[in-house]
Amino acid sequence: MRRALVTLYDADSADGIATLDSELGPTGRPLHEFPDPAPLVGHGPARIIALCNQKGGVGKTTTTINLGATLAELGRRVLAVDFDPQGALSAGLGVQTHDVPTIYDLLLGRGIDPRSAVQRTSVEGLDVIPANIDLSAAEVHLVTEVAREQILAGVLRKLAPEYDVILVDCQPSLGLLTVNALTAAHGVIIPLECEFFALRGVALLVETIDKVRDRLNPAIRLDGILATMYDARTLHSREVLERVVDAFGDEVLETVITRTIKFPDATVSGTPITQFAPEHQSSRAYRQLARELIVRGAVA
Ligand SMILES: Nc1ncnc2c1ncn2[C@@H]1O[C@H](COP(=O)(O)OP(=O)(O)OP(=O)(O)O)[C@@H](O)[C@H]1O
Ligand SMILES: [Mg+2]
Repeated sequence: MRRALVTLYDADSADGIATLDSELGPTGRPLHEFPDPAPLVGHGPARIIALCNQKGGVGKTTTTINLGATLAELGRRVLAVDFDPQGALSAGLGVQTHDVPTIYDLLLGRGIDPRSAVQRTSVEGLDVIPANIDLSAAEVHLVTEVAREQILAGVLRKLAPEYDVILVDCQPSLGLLTVNALTAAHGVIIPLECEFFALRGVALLVETIDKVRDRLNPAIRLDGILATMYDARTLHSREVLERVVDAFGDEVLETVITRTIKFPDATVSGTPITQFAPEHQSSRAYRQLARELIVRGAVA
């Protein structure tokens, strides 16, 4: 049923983005081919985006890595923050997590310059602040701090001028660390795995975002719901995606990430899939996601 996508730029349409008339994407809406954005003339201040879902294994880390890499390909200066004591983002980007300053040290405010915790990755324009298991103690330490929900925001504020976007890879929980990420963020992306229980827990997550908006961070908005691990060959995957679109409408991003074995392979190699297999369909999907988020205004 799928036709090859051709790039169309329609100068007559309101947003300059052509619609491929007869082709509907997996989300049941017309497919767009988002244009490459104009290069930026200057950098910063960064918009902060939290990748958040308290359900485990839905593609938060994979999306942080690959969206970070594809935004960097488009000339954006990107900082990825590992905010999970498992350190999967750090491992996936092949950076050191021991005997180096980590996000935990910055949260504890030991007078460390946040810049000293930033490491370069193999992708030009993509930097990372690593995490390791020490971060699991942070919730306990932070509980007694003044303005305990705002500590990450304070750290990232110092780094924001140097980046166009900061992506925070949250751990699968709605605890104090995640609330810190939501308090620091301008926007949230919710990756949702296309499987039966996908929608379970999303109401609670949306409720948490609403509470953070009411009490701590009035400006936070939902940048989009990203369907991941989609398998067009199964009726099940298609039905789940249909239900997600019924529930969230236009908040569901048009870009859908297909299930493929290449992701685990890329993770083991410590590089984004866009370097591991640049022409793979998933690399193209993450490039499309980067362009879609720029068109939606989530990234400069
Ligand atoms: N589109 C995909 N197709 C197949 N496997 C994938 C895909 N995306 C991610 N994976 C794999 O699924 C596993 C979980 O992905 P990932 O670590 O990105 O999820 P997560 O939401 O960050 O998990 P956690 O909640 O544990 O932090 C990883 O092994 C990853 O390589
Ligand atoms: Mg993760």
